[in-house]
Amino acid sequence: MSYELRSSALASVLPQDYHLPRLHVVIRAARESDCATIACLRPDEPERARRRLHSQQTGHVVYLLALVNDLPVGTGLLHWRSTTRIPLGASVSDLYVIPQLRGLGIGTQILKTCEALARGAGIRELSLAVNPTDNRRVKHYYERLGYRDPGGQPYLDAIYPRQNANGEEVPYEDWVVDLVKRL
Ligand SMILES: CC(C)(COP(=O)(O)OP(=O)(O)OC[C@H]1O[C@@H](n2cnc3c(N)ncnc32)[C@H](O)[C@@H]1OP(=O)(O)O)[C@@H](O)C(=O)NCCC(=O)NCCS
Repeated sequence: MSYELRSSALASVLPQDYHLPRLHVVIRAARESDCATIACLRPDEPERARRRLHSQQTGHVVYLLALVNDLPVGTGLLHWRSTTRIPLGASVSDLYVIPQLRGLGIGTQILKTCEALARGAGIRELSLAVNPTDNRRVKHYYERLGYRDPGGQPYLDAIYPRQNANGEEVPYEDWVVDLVKRL
């Protein structure tokens, strides 16, 4: 789905004066049938969705979607075996909400769903990785939700292309630290 189509689709389902109590947000595991609308999230989501659905089918992850009127507006990936450097428990990655709907509690709902699923499976620790300099605001948000920094060294999580101020694509190094919550 093109960006224009996505925007007009969103505009048609969201009232002009929406706020969270009027937004009916559904959090559930992704299904094959979501592939038709998953590009609502971001242009490269369909590629990732295939891999994530496969990992979900093989029992490694739960690929959570937040949906408004059946349109995906957010994601979270619960890994049953930690993918951070904290070896215990489960981990969460790819927490994301479309920019138009940030700050409305949807990210918190996705994260709380991950916590409830992990707790329900008898898991006691949930960890996640965040960039403490470029994503400082989100690090504080996780800390408010009970995640603590055990003081590990930052490590290079990934390098991906990003546009600089001149609009040129340059490699961006994502240096992260792990945070952990006792469930
Ligand atoms: C982090 C994120 C998933 C939170 O989802 P959300 O639905 O906006 O979050 P909630 O409404 O539940 O909670 C509000 C918090 O989200 C973050 N947030 C809210 N609006 C934001 C925005 N426009 N830009 C960046 N972060 C924002 C803030 O930390 C905010 O807390 P604060 O206002 O006290 O600083 C979402 O902002 C996002 O997709 N950010 C970009 C991707 C990202 O950084 N993911 C985390 C990787 S570790």
